[in-house]
Amino acid sequence: MYSTNFPIRQFNAIPTPFYFYDLKLLDATLAEINSAAGEAGGDKFCVHYAVKANANPVVLNRIAQAGLGADCVSMGEIIAALSAGIDHSKIVFAGVGKTDEEIIQGLKAGIAAFNVESIPEIENIQRLAAREGTTAHIAIRVNPDIDAHTHHYITTGLAENKFGIDRRALPEVIKLVSDAENLKLVGLHFHIGSQITDFTPFKILSERINLLVDQLAAEGIELETINVGGGLGIDYDNPDANPIPDFKLYFRTFADNLKLPAHIKVHFELGRAVVAQCGSLITRVLYVKEGFEKKFVIVDAGMSDLIRPALYEAYHAIENISNTDSATEQTYDIAGPICESSDVFGTDRSLPTVNRGNLLAIRSAGSYGEVMASHYNLRPLPPAV
Ligand code: LLP
Repeated sequence: MYSTNFPIRQFNAIPTPFYFYDLKLLDATLAEINSAAGEAGGDKFCVHYAVKANANPVVLNRIAQAGLGADCVSMGEIIAALSAGIDHSKIVFAGVGKTDEEIIQGLKAGIAAFNVESIPEIENIQRLAAREGTTAHIAIRVNPDIDAHTHHYITTGLAENKFGIDRRALPEVIKLVSDAENLKLVGLHFHIGSQITDFTPFKILSERINLLVDQLAAEGIELETINVGGGLGIDYDNPDANPIPDFKLYFRTFADNLKLPAHIKVHFELGRAVVAQCGSLITRVLYVKEGFEKKFVIVDAGMSDLIRPALYEAYHAIENISNTDSATEQTYDIAGPICESSDVFGTDRSLPTVNRGNLLAIRSAGSYGEVMASHYNLRPLPPAV
């Protein structure tokens, strides 16, 4: 099994905190995605990487080289995907609030599809496409009303969420797109949530899609693509035991449960599963503080560098990479320097004795880590190695 080796001697010379990406693991993950998708779906399955998970240029470049397309949610992400070498014909543009400027630039770039989320947005894209004298390809995001059983902040496919169009409104919306002079309906888009590790919701999603596609076909509506979204989860508890998610089972779940006409292509929008395990946030221990009840390790990274624990109470494995002698283990809370009580990376963690100056690796931080960093407390953004 592959596991990340940290080049600790080199790390000692680099100012902390910083993100470290294991590109060998990223390449192995990409190879596995291509082989598993190919095995399950042949050229019917296309993966668009969800750029929001990690837009680091080096990482994006590898992803482009592996032949993946891009799922973007802003003009900034479209520009990043194009600069990384992803062809405009493999870029889709999603998001519940696209601005006029973003829509126009998307039209000019000739992207594959706009994933649309509301009637006013459809009307606006029609207006702008007419003004530009072009046709916009449209995939309608449908809210499938499925509970993905994940964190309430990252579940998106329930009727009460702001995302997508209610299934009951679909006939009206399809008519609107079909009647619009400068719009072409290419498909439907679904996304039920993120960090999904139980595959039952994907199975239910497939069954809902089959039903919908059948109903539409009966009404004479033909589709080219079905986009099932992203959401495949990773093992945050054991990054070394499970560095690459079970892509074979993931793609097979859709291959086995989707019953679509042969010409329809299936698009996937994986973010976290592609990049999470190849990234770690490396931070230096500033102080070991002995409280009455607890020992605190104060590190130089904070919630401004990795916000997931503070925002979602997310668990990230933490390693002491300067001292790996497990015989010396003690229990610590690991906290950052920021003036917020939620600036904590882990509580009651067993680590080999931690001393000032040690380097800690906060694991599985390749997705929604560097991209969500901020300048809070006027701290600089963490660089990447
Ligand atoms: N497609 C759509 C429409 C999405 O909204 C998302 C993620 C994805 C694809 C990619 O999902 P993934 O394969 O990465 O699960 N910041 C949160 C996660 C937010 C996910 C937002 N949407 C976190 O750190 O857990």
